[in-house]
Amino acid sequence: MVDLSTEYMGLKLAHPIVPSASPISRELDKAKQLEDAGAPALVMHSLFEEEIQSEAEHFSRFLVEQGIGHAEANSFHPEPIEFKNELDNYLEQLQKLKQSLSIPIIASLNGISMDGWVEHGKELQAAGADALELNVYYIPTNIFESSQYVEDRYVELLTELRRHVSIPITMKLSSQFSSVAHMVKQLENAGANGVVLFNRFYQPDIDLETLHIKPRLEYSSSIESLLRIRWVAILYGQVKLSLAVTGGVHGGKEVVKALMAGADVAHVCSEILGKGPQRISQIRDELAAWLEEHEYESVQQIKGSVSYKNAIDAGYYERANYLSVLDSYTHAPGVWR
Ligand SMILES: Cc1cc2nc3c(=O)[nH]c(=O)nc-3n(C[C@H](O)[C@H](O)[C@H](O)COP(=O)(O)O)c2cc1C
Repeated sequence: MVDLSTEYMGLKLAHPIVPSASPISRELDKAKQLEDAGAPALVMHSLFEEEIQSEAEHFSRFLVEQGIGHAEANSFHPEPIEFKNELDNYLEQLQKLKQSLSIPIIASLNGISMDGWVEHGKELQAAGADALELNVYYIPTNIFESSQYVEDRYVELLTELRRHVSIPITMKLSSQFSSVAHMVKQLENAGANGVVLFNRFYQPDIDLETLHIKPRLEYSSSIESLLRIRWVAILYGQVKLSLAVTGGVHGGKEVVKALMAGADVAHVCSEILGKGPQRISQIRDELAAWLEEHEYESVQQIKGSVSYKNAIDAGYYERANYLSVLDSYTHAPGVWR
């Protein structure tokens, strides 16, 4: 029997295939199905600071209206104490998941302000989260915001949060930093225990009939895993924090590649949303079968085996790779070029 166990930010997991943030954690029975299918941990859907803020604004408007012109209606309104906001619902769901499941639960936070990150981070820890995943989903559209400014903000917020929260923290990053490796190193120095590479940015589309912008969410494809795997391979050995891949993991082969690059876990989302929770155990079995077939005894044995750790100059190696990819092009017969 091969040993599939892995360690992610100090959490000991039975194997490395972990469901990433998705609406599944909103429903207790679905989350339980994932655990029954062998999920070794679960990342919750994100708590968005904007949702809490907009509710708070609605609520305070509602209180003001109560106070200024609708006195006779006061008795119809719920007492403020009964009002549950998105934060309360999230904390309640986290507590329910902790009570019903025995696997580690990683809460996910998507903030916009320093206070939001810190206050909600503290509350998620107090509600029993085993770790925090901070989703850094921000597209710098302002031409006066330099890359240094954007990076400093993340480092500052993490530094501040780290002062208040003792559970492991991982940052789910975008690939669109000028220097991903330097950014990850700064986050490690600021106290991050892991990074999740990479957020998938959803590209809005233009509806040519209504001329409106319409949101577009499509499931990923395996090819997307390659960008993530490459960056894990670059980082492995240069940083000590845990590395996780998210994006394009659909089967055992992507998991093997992610581990060989140096990942501690491979997250899955589209695959289980599209095909169901049993994909967790199937992918785990695919991983085990591959390791057995290639005579490996454990996940640990292959971790980082195809990383850039031993490359003297990873940048040079990348350029050489680029050249050989272009060189490998041959045009098909009958095709002009
Ligand atoms: C329907 C849906 C909802 C998602 N919700 C969240 C979320 O709340 N927070 C988050 O960090 N990522 C969220 N994600 C992103 C996934 O966790 C994952 O990082 C991304 O889909 C790439 O992985 P995949 O290729 O396995 O789908 C969501 C993805 C989908 C498809």
